[in-house]
Amino acid sequence: MHTVPKVLCSSEAASISTATVTAQRVNGIGLLGCGTVGSSVARRLLELHPELVRGIAVRDPHKPRAVAWDDFDGDPFEVVDDPAVRVVVECIGGVGLARELVLRAIARGKDVVTANKDLIATEGPWLAAFAARTGATLRYEAAVGGAIPIVRALAGSLGSEDVLEIGGVLNGTTNFVLDAMDAGADYDEALAQAQQLGFAESDPRADVDGHDAAHKLAILAGLAFRQPSTSGGVLRHGIAALGAADVRAGAERGWRLKLLAIAKRSGEAIEAGVTPAYVPLAHPFAQPRGAGNVVRVVGRGCGALTFAGAGAGGDATASAVVADIVAALAGSEPHVAAHAGADLVTQPLRARVLVRFDGGSVVTPEPVPLDQLEATARVYGVHGAVRAVIPVWSDAA
Ligand code: HSE
Repeated sequence: MHTVPKVLCSSEAASISTATVTAQRVNGIGLLGCGTVGSSVARRLLELHPELVRGIAVRDPHKPRAVAWDDFDGDPFEVVDDPAVRVVVECIGGVGLARELVLRAIARGKDVVTANKDLIATEGPWLAAFAARTGATLRYEAAVGGAIPIVRALAGSLGSEDVLEIGGVLNGTTNFVLDAMDAGADYDEALAQAQQLGFAESDPRADVDGHDAAHKLAILAGLAFRQPSTSGGVLRHGIAALGAADVRAGAERGWRLKLLAIAKRSGEAIEAGVTPAYVPLAHPFAQPRGAGNVVRVVGRGCGALTFAGAGAGGDATASAVVADIVAALAGSEPHVAAHAGADLVTQPLRARVLVRFDGGSVVTPEPVPLDQLEATARVYGVHGAVRAVIPVWSDAA
C-alpha cells in the first residue's frame, strides 16, 4: 500500500506529513465528469470503495443524477489539486478541459486513469513521457474496446510478441448501425437509437466518420508495434454514405458490412486504415452484433488471438476504468510505458474491393490502397456508372 504520492508539488509536500497521513487520505480518488461513463464509474466506486472517493467534479453540481453522492464539485481543478486525491479519473472526454486537467494531474505526479481515446490518440506518447518524468502513471484500458482487456494484454502478456496485425471492429456505434441496417432498419433511426443507448460520442460524426475508430487503432498500433503512435496519419473512411443497397450487395455474396480498423505489417512498412469492408460471415470480424467490438492480434509466435465483447456503454467502459483505478491504488506497474524511438508512420491499408456499377459488379484481382478508391471507380466507370467501391476483407490479401 502506498503511504504518500510518488511526487508532490512543493506546497502539497509541505502540507502532507508522511507520519500523519492516513491510508484513506493518500489513496483518495477524484472523479472528473459524471456523464454516461463517469456515472457508471461513480456508482461502481461507491459500491466498492466508498471511503476512497474524495471528490466528483461535474459541470452542473445541481443537476439530479443517479449517483448516491451529495457533494458534487463544480470546480474540477479543485478535485485535481486536492492533496487527498492520488488517483485522478478523467471521464470528461475531448481534448479541451480534459487535457488541461490530465496535464495538471501529471504535473503533480498523480496517477491518471482515463477513457479518453481522443486525448491518448493525439497526445498519448508525450503524456506518457511527461508522466515518466514526474512519477505519475497513465492508464487507459477503457480507451479502446470498452470492457475488452486489450490494452493491458498488448502491453503486458504480449509485450514481447512480434505483432503482424492488430485491429478489427473498434466502434460500437457504427457496428450497431450497420447491424440494424443488416436487419432492415433505416440508418438515421439506428443512429438515434445508438445515441439514446449511450454508445455514441457527443458528436456522433466522430463515430460515423471513423475518427473514433482511427483513434483506437492508433492507440493499439502504438502498443502492438511499440512505437509512439498518433491518429493523425491514419487513413479513414466512414459509414455515412452507405445505404441499403450496399448492405444487400454484401448479403447476396455471403458477406457482412463492417467498419474495420486494421494496422498490419507489410514488408518493412505498416499499413493502416479505417474503412467499411465486406467480411465473410464466418470470419471473426463479422461476428460482433449490436455495439459489440472484436479485436484480433496476429503475432509471429502467438498466432491469431481474438478478443470480443461489449465495446461501448457506461457499465462496460466503467468496468475497465475501475480496474485501472484499482491497479493504480495497488501501485502495480503502469501498464503503458512511454515508447522511445521514431513515431509510427503508416501507409494506406490495401484490400481487394467490390466495384458495383450499373449493370454489374466486380472484385478487383489485386488489393487497392484505401486512398485509391476514387481512382479505381474511374477505371471501372467504363463499364457503367459506379455506385460503390467497398473493400472486401480477406486475411490472405
Ligand atoms: N462511441 C464509442 C463507440 C464509445 O461507439 O464505440 C466507446 O468508445
